[in-house]
Amino acid sequence: MSNGKTICTVCNYIYDEAKGKSDTKQMLKFEDLSDEWKCPECGSTKDMFQPCSCVSFPSHGQNCAVETEKKNVIDGSMTVEQIVAEHPSVACLLEQYGIDYCCGGKGKLDEACRKKGVKVEYLLEKFRAVIAKEGQSHEPDWTQSSLNKLIEHIVESYHEPLRQELVRVTELADKVARVHGENHPEMIKVKEVLSDFRTQLELHMQKEEMILFPAIVRIEAGGDLQFVGCGGGIEQPIDVMTQEHEVAGDALGTMRQLTHEYTPPSDACNTFKVLLHSLAKFEAQMHEHVHKENNILFPRALLLRGINKTQATATKP
Ligand SMILES: [Fe+2]
Ligand SMILES: [Fe+2]
Repeated sequence: MSNGKTICTVCNYIYDEAKGKSDTKQMLKFEDLSDEWKCPECGSTKDMFQPCSCVSFPSHGQNCAVETEKKNVIDGSMTVEQIVAEHPSVACLLEQYGIDYCCGGKGKLDEACRKKGVKVEYLLEKFRAVIAKEGQSHEPDWTQSSLNKLIEHIVESYHEPLRQELVRVTELADKVARVHGENHPEMIKVKEVLSDFRTQLELHMQKEEMILFPAIVRIEAGGDLQFVGCGGGIEQPIDVMTQEHEVAGDALGTMRQLTHEYTPPSDACNTFKVLLHSLAKFEAQMHEHVHKENNILFPRALLLRGINKTQATATKP
């Protein structure tokens, strides 16, 4: 599930495990770096780093080839989800500032920044620097690819790794709750929230893979929906999946809150730290995953049915 990249929240340096062989003599996963390791750019300690969710985020220090061309293509009046749909590489920065770009991405960037106490112009400057490097991305433009290809990508890059990760992270949470639950009762709650989250998410992905995704593929190919259990159309399943994404987002928010933004307490053992790091990474991957469904796949699938999702949701109370 991991893309092997971890970002310094102070200077935006990215520790890229794939590049580590040449960047550092020790090719290690970020978690395995020694506690003395420091950011080579600004000297920050390891705890100032967080998972970098964006697959296409370019490596620190790469040259900007198209900066001037794309410099002014975004502004604060755009919705957060629109910015990420057009420029997926900025997802990392939004994660960094705690701005939701999937279920909660319908608001304007101006407003989201105001709520988080971030200066919008400051963030836009960072966006522009990242967007300028998008030409180096290897990820296809999902707003243009076939829906079939996008679905294959979602299943391979998010659903399958997520199933494995859910097993690993719930085991870690069980262990931390057992060992540290007495001093940290919040970790017992985390374990419970995660357990429900896992049950619901496994069922959710199964419904997407068994019903909704085959129906979308069939619509794209011009076929009949009766054969895939979607005889009533895809609008209702999409509505249900979108609501379930919101429930999943709430659970992630609860875990973030319970763990004080995934901050290890002073008495945390390594398993505790790894759990918090894994949860943070997990949340970032979920945001990316849900964003691709909510803001790209579902609206494009509805458009094939002649429904404009933006207008449809705008008319809801
Ligand atoms: Fe999904
Ligand atoms: Fe989903």
